[in-house]
Amino acid sequence: MKVLLINGSPHPHGCTFTALSEVARAIEAGGVETHIVHTGSRVQGCVACGKCRETGLCVFSDDRVNECIRLLKESDGLVVGAPVHYAGPSAALCAFLDRLFYGKAGAYAYKPAAAVVSCRRGGASASFDRLNKYFTISAMPVVASTYWNEVHGNRPEEVLQDAEGLHTMRVLGASMAWMVKAFALARQHGLPPPPIEPKVMTNFIR
Ligand SMILES: Cc1cc2nc3c(=O)[nH]c(=O)nc-3n(C[C@H](O)[C@H](O)[C@H](O)COP(=O)(O)O)c2cc1C
Repeated sequence: MKVLLINGSPHPHGCTFTALSEVARAIEAGGVETHIVHTGSRVQGCVACGKCRETGLCVFSDDRVNECIRLLKESDGLVVGAPVHYAGPSAALCAFLDRLFYGKAGAYAYKPAAAVVSCRRGGASASFDRLNKYFTISAMPVVASTYWNEVHGNRPEEVLQDAEGLHTMRVLGASMAWMVKAFALARQHGLPPPPIEPKVMTNFIR
C-alpha cells in the first residue's frame, strides 16, 4: 500500500515540504509506504482540449502531470500540499491539479485524500477549502485531522516551531494510514466500494 504526496510549492524543500514530511512520517509509522513528488514551478495550465478524455493522459508532457496521473492510479491515497499565495493555493499547483483531475477522476474514486496548506499568516482556510473541491467532485473520501490541515511559517525552521500545526499533520498521517488499510481490508473481505452510476450532466439548463 502506498500514498502519493504532491508538493505544489515552488520550493522543493520549503515549508510545504516540511509539513508533508511530517504527514509522510506518520503514514509510514502506520505501515503504509509514501512517495513525495515535487510539481516544479513551471506548470502549464489546462487548455480544455478534452484529449485526456480519450487517452487518459494530458497532451502536455514537459512537466510531471502525466507521471502523477500514473502514480496516483497505482497509489491507495493522496495528500496534496500547497503554499498559500494571495489567500489561495499557489497558481502552479492549481494548474497542475486541473490537469491531474480533469477527465480522469473516475480512476481515483474511493482513494482517501487530504490537502495540507502552508502560510505565513492568513488565507489557509480558503486555500484548504479550494483544494478539497478536487477530492469531493471525484468521489475521494476526505481524511480529517483535529484541525484544518495548516501549518504557519515563512521558513521551514518556523514551521518546525508550529507545534499545533505539526500535531495536525501527524494525526492526519495516522488517519490516512488507517483509512487506506481499512479500505484494503474491506475489499479483501468482500466489501468493495459501490459502483458509481453514470453521471447526469444538466449544465443548469433543465
Ligand atoms: C506570491 C506569494 C503570495 C503569498 N501570499 C500569502 C498569503 O496570502 N497569506 C500568507 O499567509 N502567506 C502568503 N505567502 C507566504 C507563503 O504562503 C509562506 O511563506 C509559505 O509557508 C511558503 O511555503 P513554501 O516554503 O513551501 O513555498 C505568499 C508567498 C508568495 C511567494
